[in-house]
Amino acid sequence: MTDDDKRVAVTIRINGRPVRREVPADLALIDLLQEDLGLTGTKLCCGIGVCRACTVAVAQQPGALPQPLLACSTPAALLDGQDVTTVEGLAEAGQLSRLQQAFLDHFAFQCGYCTPGFLMAATMLLQRLQAAPVARERLDAAIADACGAHVCRCTGYERYYAAIRSVVLSQEGLVR
Ligand code: FES
Ligand code: FES
Repeated sequence: MTDDDKRVAVTIRINGRPVRREVPADLALIDLLQEDLGLTGTKLCCGIGVCRACTVAVAQQPGALPQPLLACSTPAALLDGQDVTTVEGLAEAGQLSRLQQAFLDHFAFQCGYCTPGFLMAATMLLQRLQAAPVARERLDAAIADACGAHVCRCTGYERYYAAIRSVVLSQEGLVR
């Protein structure tokens, strides 16, 4: 058996549901999401860890603050026992999240290919701000820190940032 044939048993909670699989050791998380689970919201673009279209949120243990992770370049085998949230996990009972609604209201995207990555980054920013509010004058920098590495070929970013800013400022306790 070669390394390429090696399979690894993993259990990953994906959008709150435990998923148990034996996966090839080098299977990228995005392939598990898209090909096996039919979760096609997470987008493959560059495939080499540059554009961040494939961003998902990963918490190493229950209750931990999720961190961004690039599904195109992370083997699913490394995520055994961890919690993964994809863009499909953001709406609840058919109700869009506040960020999803704000992206629509601000006409933040055109083709939408980068949108799931921006949504995940902005969602994790809100979670960080709930834990540690930022000074009002630091908000734009915090948004840029969270989303500045994401590539959008269509819109020039301003409307995404305006949408995120509006959600942060409309919620109690995220800025001080
Ligand atoms: S698809 Fe570009 S970073 Fe993953
Ligand atoms: S909306 Fe088209 S790439 Fe961002």
